[in-house]
Amino acid sequence: MDLGLKGKVAVVTGGSRGLGFYSARAMAAEGARLAICARGEEGLAAAAETLRAEGAAEVVTVRCDIAEEGGAAELVDAVRERYGALDVLVNNVGGNRRGRFEETSDEDWLDIIQLNVLSGFRAARLAIPLMREGGGGSIVFVSSVFGREKGGPGLSIYNTTKTALISAAGIMALELAKDAIRVNCVAPGSIQFPGGSWDKRVKADPDGMKAFVRANLPLGRFGKGGEVGDVVAFLASERASLITGACVAVDGGQGRSLV
Ligand SMILES: NC(=O)c1ccc[n+]([C@@H]2O[C@H](COP(=O)([O-])OP(=O)(O)OC[C@H]3O[C@@H](n4cnc5c(N)ncnc54)[C@H](OP(=O)(O)O)[C@@H]3O)[C@@H](O)[C@H]2O)c1
Repeated sequence: MDLGLKGKVAVVTGGSRGLGFYSARAMAAEGARLAICARGEEGLAAAAETLRAEGAAEVVTVRCDIAEEGGAAELVDAVRERYGALDVLVNNVGGNRRGRFEETSDEDWLDIIQLNVLSGFRAARLAIPLMREGGGGSIVFVSSVFGREKGGPGLSIYNTTKTALISAAGIMALELAKDAIRVNCVAPGSIQFPGGSWDKRVKADPDGMKAFVRANLPLGRFGKGGEVGDVVAFLASERASLITGACVAVDGGQGRSLV
C-alpha cells in the first residue's frame, strides 16, 4: 500500500532512538522528508546516518530540549528554514517519574507536564499555521496504554499526562477539522527494542519479565518498535484520511479499556 507520504515533510520529536526513531524510519521508507530532534548530538547523527543509509530522501537533525520553552520553536524554525513546509508532526518525546502520589512534589508534576504535554502542545501550535498553509496535515501524539486506563500505583504522573494527550487531541481534532488537519494518538503497550526501558528490564530480571509477559501481554511477547512506527506512519498518511480524534491502541491486547 502506498501511503502517499512521498515528499511530505514529517517532524518527529525524540527521533534519535526508540519509538521516535522507528516512526521516522517508517515514514522515511514511504519517501517522507524528515526532521528529527533530540538533546544528544551523537544520537541524532547516528540516527540520521542510519536513515540516510536506508535511503531516506532527506533528514534534518535539530538539537534541542523540547521540554524547554524555546525548544519547539527551535525545531519548527529549522523545519521552516530547510523545507518551508510541515505536513506531519509526531509528538513522541515523553517520560515517566514514578512515585506514590502522596510523595510526588509540584516540581515532579511540572517537570513531566513540560516533557509529556506542553512540549507537544507548543510544537503543535507552531506547526499548525504551516500545515494550514500547505492545505492540511496530521498530528500524532504518542500516548500510552496507561493514558487509556489505570497503570497502577506509582504512575499517577505518567497516567495523568498521557491521558491529557488523548483528551487534548480529541478537542484539537474538532477545532482543526475545517483546516484538514487531523489529530490522533497512538497508545503503545510494552515495546521492547535494544537499549529501551523494557529491554533493560528484561536483561536485569529475565524471569520476572517472563512472568510479566505471561500475565499482561496476550500475544505472549513484547511489541516491537517497528510495529508502533508503522501505525504512526499510517495515521500520518492520506490513507488515514477519515481518522481524526482517535486513539489507536498498539499494544497486542495489553490494554483492557473498552473505549
Ligand atoms: N517504550 C515503550 O514501551 C513505550 C510504551 C508506551 C508509551 N511510550 C511512549 O513513547 C515515547 C517514546 O518512548 P521511548 O521508550 O521510545 O523513549 P526513549 O527510548 O527514551 O527515546 C526517547 C527519545 O526522545 C529524545 N528525548 C528525550 N527527552 C528529550 C527532550 N527533553 N528534548 C528532546 N528530545 C528528547 C531522546 O534523545 P535524547 O536523550 O538525546 O534527548 C530519544 O531520541 C514516550 O512518550 C513514551 O512515554 C513508550
